[in-house]
Amino acid sequence: MGLRKNLNKMSQKIFIKTFGCQMNEYDSNRIYDSVKKIGYEKTENYQHANCYLLNTCHIRDKAKEKVYSEIGRVKKIFRSKKKPLVIITGCVAQAENQEMLRREPYIDLVIGPQSYHKINDTILSYLKKKKKMEETEFEAISKFKYFSKIKNEAGKISSYLTIQEGCDKFCHFCVVPFTRGPEYSRPFKQIIDESKYLSEKGAKEIILLGQNVNAYNDGKYRLSDLILEIEKISDVERIRYTTSHPKDMTEDLIDVYKNSQKLMPLVHLPIQSGSDNILKLMNRKHTVKDYLHIFEKLKKINSKIEFSSDFIIGYPGETENDFQNTLNLIEKISFINSYSFIFSPRPGTVAFDLKLINKNISTQRLEKIQNKLYENQTNKNKLFKNQIIDVLVENLTDDKTKTFGRSEYMTSVIFNGSKEHIGKVVPVKIKEFNRTTLFGELDKYTNKKVA
Ligand code: SAM
Ligand code: SF4
Ligand code: F3S
Repeated sequence: MGLRKNLNKMSQKIFIKTFGCQMNEYDSNRIYDSVKKIGYEKTENYQHANCYLLNTCHIRDKAKEKVYSEIGRVKKIFRSKKKPLVIITGCVAQAENQEMLRREPYIDLVIGPQSYHKINDTILSYLKKKKKMEETEFEAISKFKYFSKIKNEAGKISSYLTIQEGCDKFCHFCVVPFTRGPEYSRPFKQIIDESKYLSEKGAKEIILLGQNVNAYNDGKYRLSDLILEIEKISDVERIRYTTSHPKDMTEDLIDVYKNSQKLMPLVHLPIQSGSDNILKLMNRKHTVKDYLHIFEKLKKINSKIEFSSDFIIGYPGETENDFQNTLNLIEKISFINSYSFIFSPRPGTVAFDLKLINKNISTQRLEKIQNKLYENQTNKNKLFKNQIIDVLVENLTDDKTKTFGRSEYMTSVIFNGSKEHIGKVVPVKIKEFNRTTLFGELDKYTNKKVA
């Protein structure tokens, strides 16, 4: 307790560098909320930090090496200063655990994603005893119980909210079931309370997160129930969820698109490949037909709905024909936005030992697919030219001369708004576009929502 009090007086500064998915971003914010209780203040400048925390991602190649090279950089910067407390969290921490402390003595603590509820005690214990530690057990329940008692202070217009963690699907290429553990869904009430608090703090958009977000099931409620309940919070204007698995696109969730006023018409639904042969080798548990079926059902409900996806290119065994099938799928579903990666063998997964396909072929295929996906993205943006669209305004641009917001499809929009528009949904007439961004002007004539 004495140490806790002294720390509070000393005003320690913590800097967190976050890699990986939105769930890591959410976690980093929650870590800030937690360590505040023992006197740590957030700093954006790592050179001022007494505590340097790297929240890591293990999804693709070289993740581990990236961490060690980052530590090398920190070491150099702090050579002539007092060494900060160095903490590694996230999925590399989970996968590598004690090995990290052995390999890099500059690291002091290693804490896996299910152990963040122990972070304050672990730090305090380290400061007292100077004993290096790793905490990497799987215990999602205690973590969320702990964080439900600490307010989420992210205070962002568009706020992340993790509702589900872990994965039981074991796709043959993926480390997530090993780094995040089995599927766990937070209790419904806990999530609604956090949504209300985020809204009170100014959130206008809530993005529900989970490695398998649409598998959410707390024993009684599903994702569809959560969306409809959050919809009742009057200041919440927009609701999104990510990342989904095609197998869990249940009828109740599809029906929400009929009933919800606030669920955005963008469905991020990774397919990974357009070939049934590869989907089977990947252990994806769905076919291309299943995917197209979901697409058609949703389009029928609302033709404005757009899809985005993830693709893995050059999976072991991928033939020219398999690849062509992926291109055909992209032709059919003109995705508004997508992410594509070359297969990266991950230790511990089934696909780790499989024979890789020729590297040049994978690279050429990736280039081909990205050209196609980027072309689609640009063409979709072109359709907005001269249209008036709703934009949720998030902040001023870095040079403070314009405002930045997002369309219903998450596309960045830059326009001539002002500070007063932040947190509001405003009509913007799109004048120009490129692949990633729409540029426009506030539409004064349809100004009804600019209160
Ligand atoms: N749960 C999501 C799903 O079922 O598709 C995916 C979550 S994963 C964090 C994000 C993306 O990383 C995946 O959709 C996949 O495209 C990519 N990914 C995962 N493992 C990979 C690997 N070994 N090599 C290349 N890309 C990978
Ligand atoms: Fe990874 Fe998603 Fe497959 Fe789970 S469902 S193993 S998170 S790709
Ligand atoms: Fe990376 Fe872990 Fe997210 S591996 S993508 S940080 S779940």
